[in-house]
Amino acid sequence: MASKTNDNVILCIGAGYVGGPTMAVIADKCPEIKVIVADINPERINAWNSDKLPIYEPGLDAVVKRARNRNLFFTTDVAASVREAGLIFVSVNTPTKTFGIGAGKAADLQYWEKTARFIVEHAESDKIVIEKSTLPVRTAEAMHRILQSNSKGLNFEVLSNPEFMAEGTAIEDLEKPDRVLIGGMETASGRAALEKLASVYAHWVPQDRILRTNVWSSELSKLVANAMLAQRVSSINSISMLCEKTDADITEVSKAVGMDSRVGSKFLKAGVGFGGSCFKKDILNMVYLCEHYNLPEVAAYWEQVIKMNDCQERNFVNKIISNMFNTVAGKKIAIFGFAFKADTGDTREAPAIYVSKWLLDEKAELAIFDPEALPSAKKDLEGCKGKIEYVNDPYEAVKGAHAIALITDWKLFKSLDYDKIFSLMEKPSFIFDGRNILDHEALYKKGFNVFPLGKHSLTHLE
Ligand code: UDX
Ligand code: ADP
Repeated sequence: MASKTNDNVILCIGAGYVGGPTMAVIADKCPEIKVIVADINPERINAWNSDKLPIYEPGLDAVVKRARNRNLFFTTDVAASVREAGLIFVSVNTPTKTFGIGAGKAADLQYWEKTARFIVEHAESDKIVIEKSTLPVRTAEAMHRILQSNSKGLNFEVLSNPEFMAEGTAIEDLEKPDRVLIGGMETASGRAALEKLASVYAHWVPQDRILRTNVWSSELSKLVANAMLAQRVSSINSISMLCEKTDADITEVSKAVGMDSRVGSKFLKAGVGFGGSCFKKDILNMVYLCEHYNLPEVAAYWEQVIKMNDCQERNFVNKIISNMFNTVAGKKIAIFGFAFKADTGDTREAPAIYVSKWLLDEKAELAIFDPEALPSAKKDLEGCKGKIEYVNDPYEAVKGAHAIALITDWKLFKSLDYDKIFSLMEKPSFIFDGRNILDHEALYKKGFNVFPLGKHSLTHLE
């Protein structure tokens, strides 16, 4: 006989960049609910239970400290947690498939499916299973079938509740979300499950920001939101290339365009390219879907967003090489920032990976500095041939360097002592500001040859 769900216990399977912070905020905001985060990786769980959390995220430490061992628990005992919880978020990895049908585009759902089967195996009561990882459209349907195929007489409801937080601002985004999106099955029990989850968010999110949709709209909205954001970045990056060929300045163009309230000013910062675990993966997912449904023009349209990003990364490297007298062989280049954006230690799909590898192919010597991402950087460049130093001090990185390639928009790069840096570098000294965050005029006056992005260079060499 099936027992009732225990709605006062929430479990999240997968203690990653999404699962960890999301559950910490739920626990913080809902002290009467027990929140468990379970992961098969004991190292990760140990780190979540220690003073050095496995991910760097501003504000996260304080939230975890408040709730941990009060109503927030991290464990490797996934089975016991499944038995205990009524609501189960699934936030396991959904990387791009590297094999078989859809390789390079479709999402690899093996971890998700394994998790669904695991839930069926260990559940002793009805459960509400919530997709938190980004998944291809119609995954919920497949999961529902797997879950309902149980012979225990249990009922499983599947909801889609994609996460829109961005790394670096995760806690802020979770505490004050633009919206919370919940997709549910259009049945009486589906609607009831949706309301149960909505009542958790209602602890701190105003009702008019909790959007209720059908499951498919919710799944697709997540992919589209990321695709549209990435598309804005690729659009402005494409214009930065045009600016470099003309006398236009990308910062001025971006401001002029973004002040149109129909366009809006956010996500129009030209840079060395977008990274992160979501944008590329989600667009590829959408491209695969479009191809599957025989919409080749739609697929090609979105694929171009990724091609433009690849092109922007390559362009940055080409600019370094061509301006350093067409060779970087044997020259030391200081890489300022390796994370895919500021305020995170995450390097997944970081432009710095590609830029570093191409520079190493050209036989440049690299000194990489990043305040949070050095451990990941080491893993990303493992096996690469050439000289690579990983340093904890930006001044160490520039000693004897011919050039600085600024790739991540860490604020601290703005407040370094560039007189000291100039004195430590080889001459002529080059700065390639891939994020346009430095004071280019001031650097030029100090003697640097300055190459911003999408605007004219300032050089003493002509
Ligand atoms: C993104 C989405 O913003 C978030 O809603 C979703 O849940 C996950 O994916 P994230 O990847 O963490 O979040 O970071 P985001 O701030 O979106 O930046 C992505 C990339 O775009 C970064 O590499 C960033 O540097 C780059 N970017 C962003 C630009 O180059 N220019 C911009 O104007 C904005
Ligand atoms: P995201 O950025 O989406 O949070 P991560 O890759 O950082 O993704 O985290 C996914 C987590 O899911 C990893 O810590 C991984 O160990 C965990 N995981 C994968 N499969 C399972 C599983 N079957 N049971 C529990 N945890 C899992």
